[in-house]
Amino acid sequence: MESLLDDIQSVLYSAEDIRRRVKELGAELSSWYRDEVPLVVGILKGASYFLADLTREMPIPLEIDYMVVSSYGTSTRSSGVVRILKDLDYDISGRHVLLVEDIIDTGLTLRYLVDILARRNPKSLKIVTLLDKPARRKVDLVPDLVGFTAPDEFLVGYGLDYAERYRNLPFVGILKSRVYAEQR
Ligand code: XMP
Ligand code: MG
Repeated sequence: MESLLDDIQSVLYSAEDIRRRVKELGAELSSWYRDEVPLVVGILKGASYFLADLTREMPIPLEIDYMVVSSYGTSTRSSGVVRILKDLDYDISGRHVLLVEDIIDTGLTLRYLVDILARRNPKSLKIVTLLDKPARRKVDLVPDLVGFTAPDEFLVGYGLDYAERYRNLPFVGILKSRVYAEQR
């Protein structure tokens, strides 16, 4: 039987590391939104596991919506041109919006998205990301809350994919470079 584990060089954040950190993030966010009902917006597909676990660590009233965006570029590098494949179901004007991302790399994807959403006049717009690779930033974008500051490696698992696979790994791991070497 073929196993995804054969393609993993090492585990960077274990399921237990993630569970512990997500609990802390949930507590922090719950205090931020003590007096407001935030609209928690997951960026699919990568943020799906993170959002599901994070919101279960937020015992406050909140609403959930999703966006699907696709960034033109190769499968390991984004271009900064973003296409909205599925927009929000609800109007965000006057709302407190919390964007939930899996990983911020160059920042191009989120910079573009934040600029679009800001024009819709939300009352506040904050970003929480599970992983941040600040060393690779190409545009000015600082998330409000970060799970882990990650090294410049190609990461998969817990929602993160390579060519749509590996999302279902329960940890975040470094992908063996031989898996994507031909694509770069
Ligand atoms: P930017 O560069 O626009 O990238 O901040 C954001 C999107 O790029 C993808 N990305 C990754 N996906 N492992 C992944 O599975 C990674 O190490 C990685 N780095 C960037 C991801 O889709 C993210 O939303
Ligand atoms: Mg993503």
